[in-house]
Amino acid sequence: MSNTAVELTRQEREAELDLDQLKQLVGLVDYDEERDPFPVTGWDAIVFVVGNATQTAHYYQSAWGMELVGYSGPEHGNRDHKAFVLKSGSIRFVVKGAVSPDSPLIAHHTAHGDGVVDISLEVPDVDKCIARAKAAGATVLQEPETVSDEHGSVRTAAIATYGETRHTLVQRVNVAGDGSVYTGVYLPGYVARSSAFVKREGAPKRLFQALDHIVGNVELGKMDEWVGFYNRVMGFVNMAEFVGDDIATEYSALMSKVVANGNHRVKFPLNEPAIAKKKSQIDEYLEFYTGPGAQHLALATNDILRTVDELRTEDVEFLDTPDAYYDDPEMRARIGQVRVPIEELKKRKILVDRDEDGYLLQIFTKPLGDRPTVFFEIIERHGSLGFGKGNFKALFESIEREQDKRGNL
Ligand SMILES: [Fe+2]
Repeated sequence: MSNTAVELTRQEREAELDLDQLKQLVGLVDYDEERDPFPVTGWDAIVFVVGNATQTAHYYQSAWGMELVGYSGPEHGNRDHKAFVLKSGSIRFVVKGAVSPDSPLIAHHTAHGDGVVDISLEVPDVDKCIARAKAAGATVLQEPETVSDEHGSVRTAAIATYGETRHTLVQRVNVAGDGSVYTGVYLPGYVARSSAFVKREGAPKRLFQALDHIVGNVELGKMDEWVGFYNRVMGFVNMAEFVGDDIATEYSALMSKVVANGNHRVKFPLNEPAIAKKKSQIDEYLEFYTGPGAQHLALATNDILRTVDELRTEDVEFLDTPDAYYDDPEMRARIGQVRVPIEELKKRKILVDRDEDGYLLQIFTKPLGDRPTVFFEIIERHGSLGFGKGNFKALFESIEREQDKRGNL
């Protein structure tokens, strides 16, 4: 199989990322897109439905250093909801909240609380992907359609994934067959919008550059079904695999498998609860999200120390890690040399893991909203293409302490 060198997407070029940096940040690899029956270029947008998009858009600017770039709402003919488009590096978040009491977003929010409704992917050929999806038995939620405005044309379609989550497929290049590129801020219906918000003096340009992976939580016994869906329908490949004792504590357990698209920009670990003495964190999620959904988004940074310091200043709360984790000689021996002294990680409660390819630094926030559901991970990769397997036990014990405080263990 011939490998085609992977190129930067427009979003990545606009964010001034370079290819070598991105290979390090998210583990990007070369692959043959021509032979892929369902080629995926990368992430297009992560769409959240929240209880109050106006205020959430402010939170992502003030706490997470994101930039407001676009908007859709009643002032521009969208009477159903307000939607704010925010960027950080190559990542685009779209935050939606109902305006009309009849908006379908209300039922979604009532059922799930704040959460991810759409993991939208950029593809080079929407029709090719949908033909494949149909042949492989996927549920098509929206047939391919072209929408245009003065900035050009975009072709979209959507397929269903776990729970009420969807993948909208977005083609921004060559929709008219003439090589043209859509140049609007997001999609037709959105207008450019900036914000008067001013960052604190000395704050970095951004706190994260790219999206590394999104974890999906599914019901007991459904993990292999969804791994099969991504293999069969979207041609995703299996990466690492964690089962049984790998990620069990005394009380709770889960199973996890990871699939990725051809160039590895898009990585989906899929979790299901495993039988254990007490309620697994996955069970808690499924109860409070009322079903399967996106559990965490891993945001890639090239300076996790600085990012964590900035986020703590904004009162973003992280899971705690006991000092014993850092003082354990076995752990120190396994980790070896990393780019900063272990003391610097200990101060910030940043976890570290090493495998045969290198190491990674990571930390997890507490749930972002009111329900114990969606949260973020901050990750800094140095060669490792793993997901912090060596940290799962320490991490889950920390999650259990929080679950116990909530009365959900
Ligand atoms: Fe993760």
